[in-house]
Amino acid sequence: MKRTGLLVFLCLSSAVAAAPTRVERWYDHAVIYEIYPRSFEDTNGDGIGDLNGITRRLDYLKGLGVDAIWVTPFFPSPNKDFGYDISDYENVAREYGTLADWDRLVAEANKRGIRVLIDFVLNHTSDQHPWFKESRSSRTNPKQDWYVWRDGGGPDKPPTHWTSIFHGITWTWDPRRKQWYYHIFLPEQPDLNWNNQQVRNAMYDVARFWLKRGASGFRLDATPYLFEDPAFPEDPHPPKPGQGAALEPYNAGLAKGSEVLRELRAVLNQFPGDPVLVGESLTANIQSLARLYGTKQDEMQLPMDFLFANLKTLDAAQFKKQVDAAESELGGGTPVFLLSNHDRVRAWDTFGDKKHNEQIAKLTAALTLSQRGAVLLYYGEEIGMSTMPPSELKTIPLTAKRPQADARDGERTPMQWDAGKNAGFTTGSPWLPLAKDAKVNVAGEEKNPNSMYHWYAALLKLRHENAAFRDGDYVPLQSGNPKVFVFGRRTERNEWALIALNMSDAAQKTTVSGMPGEFPKLSRVLLASPATANPPASREFELAPFGVMIAGS
Ligand code: GLC
Repeated sequence: MKRTGLLVFLCLSSAVAAAPTRVERWYDHAVIYEIYPRSFEDTNGDGIGDLNGITRRLDYLKGLGVDAIWVTPFFPSPNKDFGYDISDYENVAREYGTLADWDRLVAEANKRGIRVLIDFVLNHTSDQHPWFKESRSSRTNPKQDWYVWRDGGGPDKPPTHWTSIFHGITWTWDPRRKQWYYHIFLPEQPDLNWNNQQVRNAMYDVARFWLKRGASGFRLDATPYLFEDPAFPEDPHPPKPGQGAALEPYNAGLAKGSEVLRELRAVLNQFPGDPVLVGESLTANIQSLARLYGTKQDEMQLPMDFLFANLKTLDAAQFKKQVDAAESELGGGTPVFLLSNHDRVRAWDTFGDKKHNEQIAKLTAALTLSQRGAVLLYYGEEIGMSTMPPSELKTIPLTAKRPQADARDGERTPMQWDAGKNAGFTTGSPWLPLAKDAKVNVAGEEKNPNSMYHWYAALLKLRHENAAFRDGDYVPLQSGNPKVFVFGRRTERNEWALIALNMSDAAQKTTVSGMPGEFPKLSRVLLASPATANPPASREFELAPFGVMIAGS
């Protein structure tokens, strides 16, 4: 018996030794700060932000504690979709600077321990890209198959009636080729044909170009839409008039997409420093999100969790459900949490009730930044910048610098740096006016120890310095109160952080249960709103309206 026991022990211990130990990778707990370069900082007085403006603010970003920045497109573009329609993938648009400015940005960022990710628009190019110009020139040119061309039933009868995400149908008739081309977004954003190996190779070369120039990876734009069902079936549930396309089985999430992601990941794997693929990965459910990591974890490292990001009300049960799912159903992949970005109303306004906005914004910051996994922050979120309301946006005249109105410009107003002219964003005339709340600014926030900025900086500091917070496992718990979301983070050495979030405007009692083992002894408050020095003494405690309690063992 004894010998068998020993044998079992030996087998087990060698099995344990052979199992891969969890290797910590930079992106597993990274905070990635999204910068809309047009609106961040203008250094040449033209009213449009630029790459040098980002370089100038790197010390600020280091002080805040971010691990990486993701810069949205700064490449040459006719700006029909503000840079998401690219006409040259391997250059910098004049308004944003030069390739030398990019090199300097990367060098200076890396010196401060900050990685730089860029946006990679895979699905489509601009209609002004030389590839498309060539492709549309004839049916026999060498790039004739680089985009998605179909005959349909002639100029009056498109191949299908699919709806584009930006409204209208997904097909535009080209009088020269006498064919229709496909675009899930604007007609000026024709979809590339990813079935064509030359297209793939050309795009992988683009990835190599930027990786060689110091990019630490890519945020992949619009990943669900790379492939279409080759049968181009008719839409069984056409969207209602005025409604954009949704994820549909024929236009999104096709299995071939994972082939491209694997190939692209293999390109990244040839570069040092663990470059990363962050995905704009809308999915219908958690199982589809899980698949994006790859069956062998060989696709995206960081597909964004839009199931979490799309929750629009402070509902503790819903947030718990999504975080529990991200923790239990992503096959060990690193979850990616976010609430704001350049396409959606800022969290400040989505969740704010106009009375407790500040407490609520502190709560939503804690909700994302206390999680295990990577977190995306959108510029200005850390000072509580608001979204310009549509009614105000509509009154702003169009100019050469803002040739067309975009409903999303409300969340793209210039960064608010100080109390000076144009909140310190530009000495010229800004391409888009500042938001009404421009009196809130970085300089003021830095001076006030209770500010939103210091709350964010404290959370980011915890993520770097507190072991449980940095990469402790997520421990799902029960709060005994539908208004309270409570969970734990625990290291292998049993170091604890307990996070309790009251998602209501009234004080709430919580009775924490579901602990594996004893309720931990919480000896200190790591961070709390409202501030207090008293950690919960037992598993029963009270939280202030929209209160946050983060206590550590
Ligand atoms: C993504 C971008 C969005 C852009 C669209 C088309 O959704 O985030 O800003 O308009 O792709 O490229």
